Amino acid sequence: MAGPLHFDALAETYEKARPPYPEALWSRLGELGVLRPGVRVLELGAGSGQATARLLGAGAEVVAVEPGGALAARLRQRCPGARVVVARAEDAELGGARFDLAVAATSVHWLDLDVVLPALHRAVVPGGHFAVWRTAFGDPRVRTRFRDRVDAIVARRGDEPVRPGPGELDTARWAERLSASGAFAVVHVEEFRWRIDLGADQVHGLFRTFSDWTADEAAAAGRAARDLGGTVTEHYVTPLVMLRRGDA
Ligand SMILES: C[S@@+](CC[C@H](N)C(=O)[O-])C[C@H]1O[C@@H](n2cnc3c(N)ncnc32)[C@H](O)[C@@H]1O
Repeated sequence: MAGPLHFDALAETYEKARPPYPEALWSRLGELGVLRPGVRVLELGAGSGQATARLLGAGAEVVAVEPGGALAARLRQRCPGARVVVARAEDAELGGARFDLAVAATSVHWLDLDVVLPALHRAVVPGGHFAVWRTAFGDPRVRTRFRDRVDAIVARRGDEPVRPGPGELDTARWAERLSASGAFAVVHVEEFRWRIDLGADQVHGLFRTFSDWTADEAAAAGRAARDLGGTVTEHYVTPLVMLRRGDA
């Protein structure tokens, strides 16, 4: 199943299998001064709380918007300190609340930016920020035997039309799109490259959560990891685009 509600149907797997974000990203948010105790954060597409828990842990007050009912229920359980709004970012009723920081963690590609950016410009205070990041699962610069097997699974799709995936890994293009309206200006762009060891079961679960992968393909990825010794080292990229609210 492809589409934004794919994740909700797999809420439990999502929570268990998706890896956390790299520590260097969290350090940078602190160094840039956008994440600090007492900061008011609006998080869009919070899922089961992978980023929310860390935002709360840094002392932020968090309003977390998540359209999936099952994910929102997990989010409430995992992050009781957050106010959870079950809605699409495009429709969320925030009652005129104002925020110092908006966050979209691996969710911006699901948002209608023509609607969301003007709404964020109203919701974020002057001088406030919008932090956008996402993890790309598979660093195109690093080849591994496991990645060869992943490519072989994808190649079996043959001539079928390209499935809607999570969006291009072109950070400069994202920065341009996010700032084109003038509502926000880019102040920092950085790509965090990191790696993680995954067991075969986690590979299976993680690939199952990808909106452009079928259940059979995810099982094949799990088998590939098992064939390669049961644990594989994956190389990931997490690009961060930090924007500041424009005055206009
Ligand atoms: C890949 S998940 C990321 C979840 C979480 N932020 C994380 O870091 O793991 C994408 C999330 O965006 C949510 N989503 C999809 N369309 C959305 C929309 N229009 N507004 C807000 N969230 C949306 C999905 O339900 C899902 O929870």
